[in-house]
This record gives sequence, structure tokens and C-alpha cells, in this order.
Amino acid sequence: QFRDNTLIVVFGASGDLAKKKTYPALFGLYSNGYLPKDVHIVGYARTKMDEEEYHKRTTGYIKNPNNDPEVAAKIEEFKKLSSYVSGNYDDTPSFQNLARHIEAIEKSYQGRGVNRLFYLALPPSVFVPVAKHVKECCYATNGTNRIIVEKPFGKDLDSCRELLSSLKQSWKEDETYRIDHYLGKEMVKNLLVLRFANVAMGAAWDKNSISNVQISFKEPFGTEGRGGYFDEFGIIRDILQNHLLQVLSILTMERPVSFASEDIRDEKVKVLRAIPPIKREEVLLGQYVGANGKPGYLDDDTVPKDSVCPTFAATTLWINNERWEGVPFILKAGKALNEAKVEIRMQFKDVTQGIFKDISRNELVIRIQPSEAVYLKLNAKTPGYAFRAIPTEMDLTYKRRFTDTKIPEAYEALILDAIKGDHSNFVRDDELDVAWKIFTPILHWIDGKEGPRPKPSPYPYGSRGPKELDGFIGKLGYKRAATE
Ligand code: BG6
Repeated sequence: QFRDNTLIVVFGASGDLAKKKTYPALFGLYSNGYLPKDVHIVGYARTKMDEEEYHKRTTGYIKNPNNDPEVAAKIEEFKKLSSYVSGNYDDTPSFQNLARHIEAIEKSYQGRGVNRLFYLALPPSVFVPVAKHVKECCYATNGTNRIIVEKPFGKDLDSCRELLSSLKQSWKEDETYRIDHYLGKEMVKNLLVLRFANVAMGAAWDKNSISNVQISFKEPFGTEGRGGYFDEFGIIRDILQNHLLQVLSILTMERPVSFASEDIRDEKVKVLRAIPPIKREEVLLGQYVGANGKPGYLDDDTVPKDSVCPTFAATTLWINNERWEGVPFILKAGKALNEAKVEIRMQFKDVTQGIFKDISRNELVIRIQPSEAVYLKLNAKTPGYAFRAIPTEMDLTYKRRFTDTKIPEAYEALILDAIKGDHSNFVRDDELDVAWKIFTPILHWIDGKEGPRPKPSPYPYGSRGPKELDGFIGKLGYKRAATE
């Protein structure tokens, strides 16, 4: 059920996030018929430009590789839904000007209620002034108001609390939509169904069956020009503390009472609260160095030459509750690795020894990207005369099984949820608080707040990561399957 009369303001319209994610997602929703009737998009940024230039920039990232005339026509229609206002992020007259622009557009709604969605695709330094000015100047009194914000939500527990409390002075929790775009990914959403709609899965989902779990993020490119931002944050704040921890919480939470957003988020918070802060001894840090003609992290001009910022991290988390006690959850992420892959690997325990010796363990793999898939490694009798077990797979690869279905981009799914007012796939304030509690002690150690900064292990660009990685995972009980 769409909300008609929706007006979306994209702050930071000329920035990277807006161009790469927000506008392509809005276009994706529009071209598939998922934007509400009478929608209008207002771009807002400091850059002074005319509408032609604005449209050129915002549609520049929309893909139409084969120059499909239908897509080209849709892009033209999409442009008509959108206009631009330039202004500052910290002065009242700019926002009053924006308010006048919005009101002029909403005149066509002829007094019917309006729904305003303010999307802050902005650097964190301006979150608070923009949120405050929007509330003061652009808040609709005859309809709904929603604000979307993106990470980084602070750099540790204290700074996150400070940011949240400043934002809360103008926006209520139920008006706030904090994006973690991993929650919009198809396979992350699928976890709820896989777990709770299948007795076979649910029965094996605990310490009695599972030996260890890995949640891994691998990217085949380095910071490439984003070094300035990255060096301040590092891989743990960029990926582990948010994206991978969100996946972990949905993977391990108890069954919610219903699929209502607060029921789901209550369960996520509960399981996160059972995770103690990560210990230094359970962290492996790495930084990529130049190899095979590719530059190292320190070769990036935007990175200080003596930086010890980790571009790879593996950490072990433990969940102290009835279901998961004693099962290590290994979260690992790295830039400039050998492939692009994000996946969950749940490795089962060994079968009781006796009739079978040296057979591979079962493993359930949920591949989040690329090529969404769920597959279960299991042993079967080798076909033919011999009576022997061989490792094989039950494979649900989406593009083979669901040939006609378009899988939405994460940002499309999330913007649609925000338009509908569904909070399930957004991060609640208390989730953030508990997520920072888990990571803040090791982040302070890495930042050098408690003595010398730890030195990350070097790994070559394009490799699997630091050489210590296999030992790190092996110690936690992971056994490589014969087929790998
Ligand atoms: C972002 C990080 O949140 O996620 C980036 O800041 C990273 O460093 C990106 O590249 C990965 O997103 P995706 O959807 O491509 O896996």
C-alpha cells in the first residue's frame, strides 16, 4: 500500500552516495512501478547548478548499457519527477527557500495529506544541522515526516550516543530510518524465512549441531580514492560493526513473536546483548601491500604514509546464551582480496566416528553476493558399484531456480520500506548502542588510545588475506572440506 502524495528530498544530491545508490534506486523503483502516485523528488546540495546539469549528474549513473529505447524513455519521464534546489547545510534561509519549493509542488495535492521523506545522503559532520533545520523549516504539519540517515553513526559508543541524542532533539525514533544497506539484501531478508519456515533448518540451528560460523566479506579492490574517509574509520567500522553484525544478529536471534518491526528488532537486540566485547587476542588485522601491478594501501595519496589502519580484520564473537554458548562466530572482512564475495558458512559438527572415517562435515552456505545461493554440503554414496561417501551439494542457486524474478537492489528495497513506513529493515537506536559496546574496546586499542597502535599483518593485493588467517580460523575448529 503506497502512500500517495510523497515528496522525497535527497540532501547531498550531487554527492557520491546519491549518484551511485540513491538515484539509481529511485529510478529502479520508478521504472518497476513501485513509486507512489504523484511522487516528486527534490535534490538539494550546496553545488550551484541548473536543472539540466542536475539531471545530467543524477541520471548519469543509471545503467542503460544497450541504449534500450524503453529505458531511455523511462529516464526522460523520471527526470520530470525531479527538481533541484541549492543551498547551505547550516543556515535557516536556505531551508526556508527549500520549504517554499516543497510547498509550491505540494499545491497540486490540493490539501490532501502529504508524506515527506528526507534522505540525508551526507557526510556525518552535517547530519545534525541538517536534521535540525529540516525539522524547523520543512516539517509537514498535515501529514507524515520521515528522515533517512546513513552510517557512520559515530566512531565508538560515546560518539554514537552523542550523535543519536543530538538527532533525537529534532526527530522521534519512529520518524527515523537508519540505513544499513545489508538489511535490504535479498539473502539477508531470506534468513528469516530459511530459519523460521523450515523445521529442518530450525532443528539444526544451535550449539548441538553447529561447530563454527563464518560471516565473510571480500572485495577485490582497495580504497581507490576513498582513502581519506577510510583511514579515519578502518575496516571494522566500515563493514564488521554494522553490516556483518547485522547479518549475525538475524542469523542467531530467537524467533520473533511476529514479523512486526519492533518484534524483530527486540530479538536482534536481545541476542546482541548476549555477546561480550571482543578480546584483543581474538582479532587478526591486516593491511594490503602492492602486488601484481596493483598499489598498496599506503600508495594511496589520500592515506598517511605511516598509517597502520587495518584494511582486513577477522574477529571472533561468542554468544553467551542457551542456544549458542561455545560456538565461535568469525566475522571477517577485507579490501583488495582475491574475489568479490559475501557469504555465511555454518559448519556442522563431525558425525560420530565409527562406520565413517575421514568424511567431510556438512556445511550450510548462504551466499549473499554475487549470485545469491543457499547450498548444503553433504555426503552421499558415490554412484556406482563402490560403497563410499563423497562430498556433494544440495544447491539452490537463485539465478537457476528463479529465472524470471528480478532481485531488487538493497537500496530499492529499503527506500520502498521507508516510503511504506516499515521499520523492520532499519537499525533501531538500542541496536546501535549494543553493537558499539561489542566493538568499542578493540577499536580504542586499534586507535592507540590504550598504548601503541597494533601493526596489521601485510597481505598482497589480490590474495586471500594475511598468512595467519588459516591458523586463526583453524584454531576455532574450522575444517576445510575435501572439495574446497
Ligand atoms: C559500504 C562500505 O558500507 O559497503 C564500502 O562503506 C563497501 O567500503 C560497501 O564497499 C559494500 O557494499 P556492497 O553492497 O557492494 O557489498
